[in-house]
Amino acid sequence: VTALAVTVGALFAWLWTGAAVSTVGKAPFDNALAIPPQAESTVERDGTRVFDLRMQAGETEFQEGRRTTTWGFNGSYLGPTLRAKRGEKVRVRVGNDLDEASSVHWHGMHLPARMDGGPHQMIAPGAAWTPHWTVDQPAATLWYHPHPHGKTEEHVRRGLAGLFLLDDEESARLSLPKRYGVDDLPVVVQDVRFDGSRLSGDRGLMQNVGFLGDRTVVNGTLRPYREVHDELIRLRLVNASTARTYAFGFPGDRDFSLIGTDGGLLARPAVMDRIQLSPGERAEIVVRVEAGERVMLRSFPQDNYGGFWQRRFGGGDDSFDVLELRAARQLRPSPRLPATLTEPELPDGAEAVRGRHFDLKLSGINGRSMDMGRIDETVTRGTTELWTIRNTNGMPHNFHVHDVQFRVVEVNGSAPPPALRGPKDTVFVPHGTTMKLALRFTGPADPDVPYMYHCHLLYHEDEGMMGQFVVVEKGQSAGTPPDHAEHGAGQARRGG
Ligand code: C2O
Ligand code: CU
Repeated sequence: VTALAVTVGALFAWLWTGAAVSTVGKAPFDNALAIPPQAESTVERDGTRVFDLRMQAGETEFQEGRRTTTWGFNGSYLGPTLRAKRGEKVRVRVGNDLDEASSVHWHGMHLPARMDGGPHQMIAPGAAWTPHWTVDQPAATLWYHPHPHGKTEEHVRRGLAGLFLLDDEESARLSLPKRYGVDDLPVVVQDVRFDGSRLSGDRGLMQNVGFLGDRTVVNGTLRPYREVHDELIRLRLVNASTARTYAFGFPGDRDFSLIGTDGGLLARPAVMDRIQLSPGERAEIVVRVEAGERVMLRSFPQDNYGGFWQRRFGGGDDSFDVLELRAARQLRPSPRLPATLTEPELPDGAEAVRGRHFDLKLSGINGRSMDMGRIDETVTRGTTELWTIRNTNGMPHNFHVHDVQFRVVEVNGSAPPPALRGPKDTVFVPHGTTMKLALRFTGPADPDVPYMYHCHLLYHEDEGMMGQFVVVEKGQSAGTPPDHAEHGAGQARRGG
């Protein structure tokens, strides 16, 4: 029965996506890669670092002479890279210059629920919201994007996304490539499809996975190349696509070292030749280049269920180019990668005081569709839990939890592969997978304001594959989520 379900699922997936894709061909990668600017900030007397973000509509010239209507932060597409150190207080003033309400969520950040930027912290058009918190987690590649319930897919796909990099004493001390835009490159990957002067969001006929584009952009650049001048190049890979899963690697089975996952550095570099990232996941890799050569970052065929449902660039070949690195004729020597990086701060599954189960279906998680007024799970501050995530839905899903970085304890009964051994906030859960995660909730407690967990295939999230949890003190029970519309407007007025 299971085998039949898989086959039927795969057939449908193929039917859904087969018609929607065109061929990119072998056009040269000759557009200089855009590097998102590092956001300016001011530091107040008490040490608070203050940023300014504005959501705005604009036009972007992805292709010469062709204007596309897009959204961005402080610009027409994507946003600046925010950066802060562990221990720093930060405050971000987020203005909304769009003509509809949205929100901004700090994906991967440990922070109080009312600063999280989920669907309960909406920002009305013309209003502003000013969350603040203290950075209390290791160096990592995090990102930010809107999270309005039912419209996240659209708002991200139009271009609202940016990086939030965290640094700490260890990351400063380690001899890793760390010159932003030089040997430490942000690589925000998205798939797009152009439809006249706008970005298409067409899911195609009966396509249940979500939007799949027919070409990719990196940091908003089509067919990008980057000239590099160092032997070792660190790539901060971010899958900011709304539905597409990638298996990144280099032709000729060139190895690279994985040094970090969603929430920070690994214990030691792990040498591999592929890394699969589903929407929302990040990986920091370091690749060696030789003087004068061109090295293409590609996405390769995906051996698990991910490969079935999404069609490819270039007629049946599930392999397409993403970013060309052009090494200069003279390269600066890079120090060797350290043998050990850090002691990742991962929860210990053996300390778990309770377990929960999450069954992933497009119709909802555990059979329930998202309800803003319902708290689905109540967890106690200061405890560790074991969550079992299961997908038997015949289609790809992933699982993202706000506020925490978790440990993958088990994948289908086995120890996790190296790519899943670091701190994670999002994991790919293909059909036929059961995954065990250890999560530790350190608070602060707030019985009234929930965090989200959801599928990060954003069409699925919008369709209701999302639930809400609150963190409470021992013995306390969950409160009532605020009416989001009123709360959002009130917050915005106070914040603005
Ligand atoms: Cu990246 Cu709940 O989101
Ligand atoms: Cu899903």
